[in-house]
Amino acid sequence: MADLSSRPIPLHVAIIMDGNGRWATARGLPRVAGHREGAKAVRRAIEAAVSQGVRYLTLFAFSSENWRRPAEEVADLTFLMKHYLRSELRELHEKGVCLKVIGERERFGPTLCAELAAAEEKTAGNTRLTLVMALSYGGRADIVAATRRIIEAGVAPDALNEQVFARHLATDGIPDPDLLIRTSGEERISNFLLWQLAYAEMLFTDVLWPDFDADDFARALDEYTTRERRFGARPV
Ligand code: IPE
Ligand code: IPE
Ligand code: MG
Repeated sequence: MADLSSRPIPLHVAIIMDGNGRWATARGLPRVAGHREGAKAVRRAIEAAVSQGVRYLTLFAFSSENWRRPAEEVADLTFLMKHYLRSELRELHEKGVCLKVIGERERFGPTLCAELAAAEEKTAGNTRLTLVMALSYGGRADIVAATRRIIEAGVAPDALNEQVFARHLATDGIPDPDLLIRTSGEERISNFLLWQLAYAEMLFTDVLWPDFDADDFARALDEYTTRERRFGARPV
């Protein structure tokens, strides 16, 4: 039997949770039913990450481009995020999950914004899993905001390097993802973590996000173990 204890576990898994709408449409349900079911898959993914020993899990829940959707769908998603946070926070905290939010959360209004800040504060000392929620996040906006902060901080041109730049991104202090998973069969980045995914292993699956379960998560980690990461160097 394979020695599972020696398998390389990705330190950081990032997921583009896609396919909620198609999941609902295939069942003759409104899209919001797919988003509701997607929230259950979020719960499963967090549990799977904790039990597999993944230390960082980043979930793309709402992109900076998702504001282009009809107001009704945006309202449904905002409501679900609020509801999710209220119902799951206590359990997340008990599991040892540290919550961090990246993206322009202000756009969701003061209530959700304040509740997210309170949740981050409450869970700040937890170390089992860092859960990064990308809400109204865009990779390009992140890079532009970092550049603005660098200019405002008066960093001298000669002092700027990749490490300094990365410290001004929303993901400051979080290692780059080792594995990116995108569900629903789409094979694109959709303006997710553009800088941070430079050397991530990419895994695309046809499974729709609401169907994604612990077995799918485990299969993704298995696939990751077969990848040879060279980072531009020569194979060993
Ligand atoms: C992902 O599912 C959730 C968000 C982007 C908020 P979609 O809503 O994109 O589902 P599809 O891609 O239309 O099936
Ligand atoms: C990407 O999914 C964003 C999230 C999963 C939150 P989309 O469904 O918005 O991406 P596109 O429009 O198909 O590229
Ligand atoms: Mg989609």
